[in-house]
This record gives sequence, C-alpha cells and structure tokens, in this order.
Amino acid sequence: MQMKLLLWMVVMMVILPSSTVTASSNISLETCPQTCGNVSVPFPFGFGRPECAKNSTFLLTCNQSGSLLYGDIPIDNISLEDGTITGLIYPAYECYDQNGLKNGTDRLIWLSRPSLIISPIHNKFIGLGCDTIAKMTDREGRSGSGCITFCNNPADIRKDSSCSGFGCCQTSIPEHLDQVNFTVTSSSNHTDVLDFNPCSYAFIVANSFDISKLDFLGPQETFPSWLPVVFEWVIGDNRGCQDYCGPNAKCSYADTVGGFRCWCKPGFIGNPYLPLGCQDIDECKEPNKYPCLGTCWNTIGSYTCENKTNKTTWPIILGISLGFTVVCVVIGAWWLSKILKKRRKVKLRSQFFKQNGGLLLQQQLSSTEGNVEKTKIFSTKELERATDNFNRNRILGQGGQGTVYKGMLVDGRIVAVKKSKVPDKEKVKDFINEVVILTQINHRNIVKLLGCCLETEVPLLVYEFIPNGTLFQYIHGQNEEFSLSWERRLTIASEVASALSYLHSATSIPIYHRDVKSSNILLDEKYRVKVSDFGASRSIAIDQTHLTTNVQGTFGYLDPEYYQSGQFTEKSDVYSFGVVLVELLTGEKPIFLERTKGGRSLASHFILSMEDNSLFNILDARVKDSSAHEEIMKVAKLAYRCLSLSGKKRPRMIEIAVELEQICFLQNSSNDQKIHEEIRYVETKVTNYGDFASGGALSIDMEPPFSSESWGLLEKQLGSNVE
Ligand SMILES: *[C@@H]1O[C@H](CO)[C@@H](O)[C@H](O)[C@H]1NC(C)=O
Ligand SMILES: *[C@@H]1O[C@H](CO)[C@@H](O)[C@H](O)[C@H]1NC(C)=O
Ligand SMILES: *[C@@H]1O[C@H](CO)[C@@H](O)[C@H](O)[C@H]1NC(C)=O
Ligand SMILES: *[C@@H]1O[C@H](CO)[C@@H](O)[C@H](O)[C@H]1NC(C)=O
Ligand SMILES: *[C@@H]1O[C@H](CO)[C@@H](O)[C@H](O)[C@H]1NC(C)=O
Ligand SMILES: *[C@@H]1O[C@H](CO)[C@@H](O)[C@H](O)[C@H]1NC(C)=O
Ligand SMILES: *[C@@H]1O[C@H](CO)[C@@H](O)[C@H](O)[C@H]1NC(C)=O
Ligand SMILES: *[C@@H]1O[C@H](CO)[C@@H](O)[C@H](O)[C@H]1NC(C)=O
Repeated sequence: MQMKLLLWMVVMMVILPSSTVTASSNISLETCPQTCGNVSVPFPFGFGRPECAKNSTFLLTCNQSGSLLYGDIPIDNISLEDGTITGLIYPAYECYDQNGLKNGTDRLIWLSRPSLIISPIHNKFIGLGCDTIAKMTDREGRSGSGCITFCNNPADIRKDSSCSGFGCCQTSIPEHLDQVNFTVTSSSNHTDVLDFNPCSYAFIVANSFDISKLDFLGPQETFPSWLPVVFEWVIGDNRGCQDYCGPNAKCSYADTVGGFRCWCKPGFIGNPYLPLGCQDIDECKEPNKYPCLGTCWNTIGSYTCENKTNKTTWPIILGISLGFTVVCVVIGAWWLSKILKKRRKVKLRSQFFKQNGGLLLQQQLSSTEGNVEKTKIFSTKELERATDNFNRNRILGQGGQGTVYKGMLVDGRIVAVKKSKVPDKEKVKDFINEVVILTQINHRNIVKLLGCCLETEVPLLVYEFIPNGTLFQYIHGQNEEFSLSWERRLTIASEVASALSYLHSATSIPIYHRDVKSSNILLDEKYRVKVSDFGASRSIAIDQTHLTTNVQGTFGYLDPEYYQSGQFTEKSDVYSFGVVLVELLTGEKPIFLERTKGGRSLASHFILSMEDNSLFNILDARVKDSSAHEEIMKVAKLAYRCLSLSGKKRPRMIEIAVELEQICFLQNSSNDQKIHEEIRYVETKVTNYGDFASGGALSIDMEPPFSSESWGLLEKQLGSNVE
C-alpha cells in the first residue's frame, strides 16, 4: 500500500508536469446570460427574460450599471451548495445634532416571494450605540424582539468581533422569517453621550461580517450604507423531491426554510437544478485529484484503474531512483513537523483546560458529594472519536447558540454533543456554575447532562441522546404517520409543567429556562418529554425575584411584559409555557404566516377566541374529535390565565403542574374503571400529607412526580391556596 503511494508520488513528480484539466460547464440555461456585473447567476435564478429563471420567484433583474437586484435589494453572491443568496441592506439609524434635533430611518425587509427567508443560521441582529434600543418586529409591529445597549464613557466600549462590550448588543434571528421591520430609538435622546456618540444603529448582518470594523461613534456619513445579509432559499416543497432536480442529482430537505435542495451525486459535477442535470466527471483527465497508476478508464459516475507494471520503461526507473531520495527527505521532514505539531497540540489542550476553569470544575464536582461519578470530564480525543471528528453528517441541529452533533461513546452510549459558538473568557465562571447546576438536576422530564469537555477553545457539553425529535415537529405535522391524540397532548403538557416547576421550585437555587418553546421539548422513544436547551437559562439568588438582562427569546413565545421592562421573572417562563399549551390545543404555529383577527400572534388570536366563546372553532382536528370537552375547556382556561398580560395574574408553575395532574387524573378515571381500587390505596397513603388529601391525585399513577421532600416544599410554597 505504502509502496504504491510512493511509486505514484514519484511518477507524478517525474512524468507529469503539473497539468490540470477542470471540467467546465454552463451554470445557466442555454442562450441565457450567466453573469451580471461580477455576480454569476446559476439556474434556477435567472434574469433578462422570464424563461431564464425557474419561475417568477427566482427572476432577478440586472440594471444598467451592472448591479444584480432582487426586487430592490442588490445581490452580491448566489450559492447553490449552501442554498443562500447574499443581499445588501442599509441599516436603520437615529442621529442627533448639537441642538437635539433628530434624524433617522427604519428599515423594512419584505421578501414577499415564497421559498425565501432571512437565514436564522447565517445572520444575527445587532444594535450599536451608547443610548440605544434596537428592535425588530413583524410588519404590523405586533410581535418582536430586540436588545438594549448603553454606555457613558468611550473607554467602556470594547471593540471585538463577538459584540461583547458595552455599545454593542445582539440577538438571534427568529426562524421562518420573511419580513421584518427594524427600528432604533433611544431612552434619553443621546443627551449625555452627544459629544462622542451622536448616532444609534440597528441592522441584520451576516455572521461572516466582522462587526469590529464598524466605527459607530462618529457621524452617520462614516458608517457603511450597505451591509451583507444572507437569505436562504429552496426549490419547492409541494411535490416529490426528485421532481425538482435534474438527472444524476439527489435532494435533501432543508428544515430552516421548509423545502428541498438538490446536489450532484458523487462522481458528477455541474448545476443539479438544470434540466440537463449533472455531468459525469472524466476523472482520467484530472490525475491530480483522482490518482491512477496504470491505465485509466472513465465510467459513468466513477473510473477504473488498471495496473500494468510490465510496461515500465527506462526513464521511469531512472525517475524512481532519483525520486526516491527526494521522497525520503520529504517524508522525514513531514514526520518531524508532525511530531512537533502534536507536542504543541497537547500543550494547547492543557492550556484551554486551565483557561476554561477545568481545575475549578474538578474541585467543585468533587466537593458536591454523590455526583462525582455521574458527571464526567471528557477528553477531546474521546469526543472526536465519538462524533467522527465532528463530521458534517453527524449534525443534528444548528442554531444561534451552536451546533449539536450525534455521537457514540466507547461504551456504546449514544450522546448529543453541543459545541457552542461564542468563546468569552469572562463567562467561564458562569459556565462552570451552569454545568454544576445542571449536573445536580435529576428529573425524568429534563434532558440529562452527562459531562463536558474543556480542552477546546469553546467548551463542549455532552447530553444524553433523545431519539424522537421535537414536539414542534409532531404538532406541526412534519411526522404525519404519528399524529398526537388529545390524551397524549395532555400528558405532554403535564410532563413539561412538572419539569418547569421542578426547575423553579425544587432545585436548591431557582432556575429559569428562558427559552421555553415546542422546539426545545424533545420526545424520547416512549414519547415521554425531555425539556432541553439550557443555553439561555440562569439561576438566581433565592432572595431575588427577577433578573434584568438584554431582552432575548423567541418570536411568538416572548413575554410581552418582559419585552417592555427587560425584567425576566418566573412568570415569563409561565407565559411561554402558555403559548406551548395553545400550540397543543390548536396545532397552530406561534406566529401565523397570514394575518388574522388577532394579528400574526397565536397567543392574541387564542385570547380573542376565548373571549368570543369561539374556542372550538380553532381547535386542532384531533383535539376536537376527542370527547373530553370538559378537560379541554379546563386546559384552555389554564392557558388563558398563563397568557395574562400582567405577570402577577398568571399562576405559578407549581400550581399549573398540580392542576394539569388533576386534569390528567380526571381523564384517566373517566377512561378506566379499575382506578377506583387504586384511589382507595392512594387515599390511605395520601392522608399522611395532611391538608393535601384532596390533592392526592398527584400520586395516583403510583410514580409520584415529586419526591416526598418536594411535597413539603409544595406545601410551603402554596400555603393554604390549594383547595
Ligand atoms: C454554454 O452556453 C453557450 C451559449 O451561451 C453554448 O454555445 C454552449 O454550447 C453551452 N455549453 C454547454 C456545455 O452546454
Ligand atoms: C467587479 O469587481 C471589481 C474588483 O473586485 C470591482 O472593482 C468592480 O467594481 C466590480 N464591478 C461591479 C459591477 O460590481
Ligand atoms: C443599479 O442598482 C444599484 C443598486 O441599487 C444603484 O446604486 C444604481 O444606481 C442602479 N443603476 C441604475 C442605472 O439604475
Ligand atoms: C459566495 O458564497 C459562497 C458560500 O457562502 C462562498 O463560498 C463564496 O466565496 C462566495 N463568493 C463570493 C464572490 O463572495
Ligand atoms: C437628515 O438626513 C438627510 C439625509 O442625510 C438630510 O438631507 C437632512 O438634511 C437631515 N436632516 C436633519 C434635520 O439633520
Ligand atoms: C416600522 O416600525 C415602526 C415602529 O415600530 C413604525 O413607526 C414604522 O412605520 C414601521 N415601518 C414600516 C415600513 O412598517
Ligand atoms: C427626547 O426628545 C423628545 C422630542 O424631541 C422629547 O419629547 C423628550 O422629552 C426627550 N426625552 C428626553 C429624555 O430628553
Ligand atoms: C415558483 O416556484 C416555487 C418553488 O417551486 C413555488 O413555491 C412558487 O409557488 C412558484 N411561484 C409561482 C409564481 O409559480
């Protein structure tokens, strides 16, 4: 094997002067122009004549100065591989002059064609300035999110590409966004900072853009008028996947947009969207890329290589002996550099381990008794082996916070490995705290943290792997063969409530999840709930009731009170949970694509329906079919209270959990006669808890969701409020 390689290297050096043959083929339809200015325009996109594009969704224009335009948005780049196009968008700004006069503009992006969204993976929303409230809302201004930043001294402003200093704030882009209005305002008209910062800016920008280059302190003229934004596109979603791609191409479903993309099969090259499809690669013409010693035969989709060593001639033998010495020297040098590199890598790893607080964590973990063997500190090697070197094929999901890979440990356990994005040395202490807290959580409806790895620049987290996808996928019909029955929905709601109330009340320090939504609720092989994604979670000291932070969260689930005040309380999680309840009841997504009487938000639509007594018109078909109208009404009323605009009027998570358990129990007892015997059994058990006899339904399923200490806690929390 090695001999063959050597032989090949020598032949390459001696016989073949570097001759590269690259396959060139047209990317657009015949007789259609291929480039506009400097931008090449591959099919399905096109310009010039309508028949040059797949259909009007992909039709662009090329104006006289050679700028490619999508509507009025200039286009910089089109990528078939990533399914993206890069557009240029001007930022929203607000400037003040010395007299306090204001000047500014907002910015609306409205893609208005199907199959195209503002990419949530490739972009972020940024606010810049020293007295700045940056917001993005839908066109009607009914739902939105944003961030706040302020500073009083130019020295406070730290300029780096991760936007972590004062003067810069960022939040992630909601999924499935095709229209957004971003605006920027200030709370005190820049009065105190006018001498060094007259302007505020808000904009969406591609992650690849280095924001540390932006000088936002000076006058507006010095700020760039255009910034790159990445849009994602798909070819369509209403027919079979193969209908969209040409011959010799395959296709895959892009979740972020909800449609198909095409790729050339291995051994083929070209534009997979063209009617002609992908072309065979003549591998024999590219010996640098496709090595072959002997006679090369091209086949469709591959090539074969026939060895004929008896044909070697004198020049080759001469070449071999000459080349051999050269190769020996090269290999020797290569070995030496590899050994040096390896040594450097080991050093770097232990440096990262220290920098990431590895020693601190080891100390913390060994001081919290009992958990030592449960949480593990993994080495980079173990995780690289488990995830096949973080292979792209192993990616389970990608989001604003990081990438999750599927992996298999040496002992055969399947795990999910989360690689977060932002390296921030100052957050390390927080991170360690969070790991310590998460390892102490042990609840059957919360995904379990198995350990972490600190030897890389960004710490890696290792979770148990949950096989059945997210609740979002089940509710919104991406899995048609398994449609959720009413009983299943009720159990899911109850399990989520149990997990959240555990986080709020039963842990030694209250933990707020801060991003409760159906796509963060995973289902295991028995469709039991596992709440996940604690990336945004925070624990707070017991005497605090809220925490003040940059507003962050997900469109449609965000508590309006928190959005206005910036103060996150336990009731903000309750609001988000209310939206999940409504999703379970109605089967609708939290944001509507089309406007309804309550606007584009599911929550306000639901509230209006409740107030009109027309709840049964908006229920999901599977829910409506169920005969349990009384239970449905109870859950709807509970959701209504959770969505109250005033946090004070919302119930606490622990009350919700108790109420849902009771509804579950009523449901089961109407289904099942045998339960009576069990009640008698449990009643005798429950009387031990004094006043709680009537709340005894909680332990009817023989597997109480709370331990007996939690009962004591519950008693303390609720006082005499439980009837
Ligand atoms: C590419 O397009 C040109 C016209 O623009 C045409 O003459 C040529 O035959 C095409 N080549 C291929 C390989 O289709
Ligand atoms: C094309 O690219 C060159 C070099 O990057 C640039 O100078 C020129 O302005 C570009 N032309 C257009 C029409 O964008
Ligand atoms: C072409 O579009 C660009 C970008 O919008 C614009 O700056 C330029 O003025 C346009 N040229 C013409 C001739 O309309
Ligand atoms: C266009 O985008 C692709 C994918 O993001 C990138 O690889 C390529 O370099 C870009 N081309 C230009 C000219 O910016
Ligand atoms: C606001 O900005 C526009 C464009 O830069 C300029 O024409 C106008 O004079 C400005 N108005 C004030 C009050 O500064
Ligand atoms: C964008 O939102 C602002 C306030 O949030 C509003 O004044 C403005 O009219 C909106 N712009 C558009 C184009 O809808
Ligand atoms: C900001 O300016 C507006 C009008 O220009 C004024 O009504 C408001 O009181 C000012 N606010 C502060 C905090 O100065
Ligand atoms: C164009 O094609 C896309 C994707 O195939 C489809 O979603 C859209 O409805 C089509 N538009 C028109 C106007 O036919």
